[in-house]
Amino acid sequence: MWASALFGSTIRIRYPGARIRTRSHYSIPATGYGIPVTIADLSDSPKKVLVAVAWPYAQGSLHLGHMAGAYLPADIFARYQRAIGNDVLMVSGSDAHGTPITVRAEAEGVTPQEIVDRFHPEFLGYWRDLGITFDLYTRTDTPNHHRVAQEFFLKLLENGYMYPATSEQYFDEEVGEFLPDRYVEGTCPHCGYEMARGDQCDNCGRTLDPTDLVNPRSKRSGSAPVLRETEHYYWKLSAFGDRLLDWLGDKKGWRPHVINFAKGMIEDGLIDRAFTRDISWGIPLPVDDLGDGKRIYVWWEAVMGYYSAPQEWAQLQGDPDAWKPWWTDPNAESYYFVGKDNIPFHAVFWPALLMGHGGLNLPTNVPGNQFVTFKGEKASKSRGVGRPLRWYLEHFEPDALRYALAANLPETSDSDLTEGELVRRVNDELVAAWGNLVNRVVSMTHRYFEGVVPSCEVHDAVDEALLETVRSGINEVGAEIQAVRLKAGLAKAMSLAQAANGYLSDREPWQTAKTDLERTGATLGVALNAIAGIAVALGPYLPFTSPRVFEMLGLDQEQHWHRPVVPAGTKLGSVEPLFAKVDAEMLEAD
Ligand code: MF3
Ligand code: ZN
Repeated sequence: MWASALFGSTIRIRYPGARIRTRSHYSIPATGYGIPVTIADLSDSPKKVLVAVAWPYAQGSLHLGHMAGAYLPADIFARYQRAIGNDVLMVSGSDAHGTPITVRAEAEGVTPQEIVDRFHPEFLGYWRDLGITFDLYTRTDTPNHHRVAQEFFLKLLENGYMYPATSEQYFDEEVGEFLPDRYVEGTCPHCGYEMARGDQCDNCGRTLDPTDLVNPRSKRSGSAPVLRETEHYYWKLSAFGDRLLDWLGDKKGWRPHVINFAKGMIEDGLIDRAFTRDISWGIPLPVDDLGDGKRIYVWWEAVMGYYSAPQEWAQLQGDPDAWKPWWTDPNAESYYFVGKDNIPFHAVFWPALLMGHGGLNLPTNVPGNQFVTFKGEKASKSRGVGRPLRWYLEHFEPDALRYALAANLPETSDSDLTEGELVRRVNDELVAAWGNLVNRVVSMTHRYFEGVVPSCEVHDAVDEALLETVRSGINEVGAEIQAVRLKAGLAKAMSLAQAANGYLSDREPWQTAKTDLERTGATLGVALNAIAGIAVALGPYLPFTSPRVFEMLGLDQEQHWHRPVVPAGTKLGSVEPLFAKVDAEMLEAD
């Protein structure tokens, strides 16, 4: 109900690039608004940048924690890389296998395939609605992924990192089946959390083996499981400790909590891990010496998606080898955007798998996040903490949501998200400092100059200082994004809007318009040029509204990473509010 009241007239959702470009019909050369300066590292040969984003289990709706933990930061980073001219390949997909899927399927009495087929399209809708620009968002139940994972296994086998062994695993005597990971729950041996799952403790984040749990219970029947012998392929993870530490040793720019967690885990000692599970849903082994009913453990094959997805992307391009530079060019870079509980898999296990395979690039950085909490509790799909993402998409414009989340990314510590905080960010910052700035300056140009960018002969040091602040500010924002300090990049970009607001308060064009139109014209011309630059700096964060600003200013909707010049004589587009304020009372009522 509120959604339609709110969306009926004020909210318009646009996709970047969806609108027709409008170019100025005026061709008067720029006077006084400066020459755009390109940033130094924009080289002739673009760099290949793989933006790898965690693969969500296709077993439940996503929440804000997923968005802030992985997808939004990845997209901001990817958009910046594209703007500086790099060749970005941004991939992920739905994680279709493993017990998270089968647990849900059993609870609903449907097949695992039905669960995956339901949630995969739902996820695609989130990417579309929030402007998350994957080059390919695929899934792990494709023939391509199965083939790549099986070949990866064979390569590890060939390289001597796989051996079959018998071990004891939990068996549910009431049901008559082995219990993989998430079917066993119990008390975490490290922190005492009583609801720890067989694969990982949600409380302390440590990865577990079901046999680590104290007082294990079967999720199938509730009974205490017993240990029985079963045969699996084992992966010689123990062989990689020193190599991993060497590799991590010279990493600069990694987040301390990521590198410390990874090093700590390795120093605690890495043991060989079962590569397969007794489960009927997943990727079969390409060898048959263990008999039927063995599947590759979901985590080991899911991370291989970063390698299989580029191959599928290349096939879709009609150029099956096109993926190779991202994986084999020594200058290529790869960034893995993951939430906190995924850190061990991306900073330790996946690099070890890649080392075992050989010939493939190791991660450049794993900018793992901390947790997003809701009123202090960790957001959780499986435990229903935090509202579903769809609710937020119905109540916030996409850029407003992107802004409020980006301002609260859990980059170095947990971040508690309340609706009040989201509303404050949108109304008091985004609308007040940025939306209103654009609105006022474009409106005044219409009012005093019939919507044509005034030419200006009277620049002084104050005018130049603002334009220089914006010019260098764009580079500073870029440096923060490059270092994956996205919150700091956003704060920097917003400080440019504050600077422009301060400039307007000093210049008071609404006052000078009564007495000195030349000065008023210079002020508005400078402000419009500053706005164009700020829209560039905000572009990776606000991809729906920055192109609208460019359009209002008669610029191309796609801009490179520098301050564009809005030439005098440009006819501006009509004034349209960039954002609507969020009605906090309506949110509460809903
Ligand atoms: N499916 C896992 C989760 O939702 C993440 C897998 S990331 C991958 O936590 F790289 F392993 F695919
Ligand atoms: Zn624990």
